[in-house]
Amino acid sequence: MEKERKLIVAGNWKSNKTVAESLALVGDLKRELAAVKEVDIVVCPPFTALESVSKAILDSNIRLGAQNMSENGYGAFTGEVAAGMLKEFSVGYVVLGHSERRQFQKESDALVARKAAAAHAANLVPIVCVGETLAEREAGITDRVVETQVRGSLAGLTPEQVEKTIIAYEPVWAIGTGKTATSAQAQETHAMIRKVVVAIHGDSVARRVRIQYGGSVKAANARELLSQPDIDGALVGGASLEVRSFADIIKNSI
Ligand code: 13P
Repeated sequence: MEKERKLIVAGNWKSNKTVAESLALVGDLKRELAAVKEVDIVVCPPFTALESVSKAILDSNIRLGAQNMSENGYGAFTGEVAAGMLKEFSVGYVVLGHSERRQFQKESDALVARKAAAAHAANLVPIVCVGETLAEREAGITDRVVETQVRGSLAGLTPEQVEKTIIAYEPVWAIGTGKTATSAQAQETHAMIRKVVVAIHGDSVARRVRIQYGGSVKAANARELLSQPDIDGALVGGASLEVRSFADIIKNSI
């Protein structure tokens, strides 16, 4: 059955790749993926490669994302990157509240919500990440933890903004570990997230919001995961660093 939401597969390169390496990778991806129309394709290089990659993907079907941004605009915020700066490089998406930032930079749901509002104000699409730790899953509190993150990280957004927001469910125990949630586990949590959106903003917003899965996605498991009714794409870490594995994830999801 055709899904009413278009799949979106994004590569989160994390703190990897020089400018030269970034250009080599997107050059290969452009060639490999030129014919793909069925899936929205996004790459999220480090800030330092945004300008070069932006130029390299002009006139291609690959869109650009950043991995973080400031909740503030221009001003005295040393070390921060404001939404307007990203817009200069035609960035369209921004990953917010990744579990690595929640862990290492202590980002809270409230901060993520402020960043998401700032992203929307600049016409950037936020990819808001949520997900439970292994201890939380084992304690049987996955739904409670993820619901709290979803409600807190989307707090204050209008229904129109939520509809455009991408939610990425990334169980922390599946990130970079080779352990993927089973498609049934992932589908169950995605359906729960969609119900939370129904509860906050109603059916039509929830029907439109796209929910990506992330955590050890690779070519071999992409088709099974992305064919689940509430899984609308993938946020890919390790496997997005090589042309073959990232291109195959996209081709296998069609
Ligand atoms: P891996 O695909 O390396 O598990 O990383 C997932 C992730 O954190 C994407 O944001």
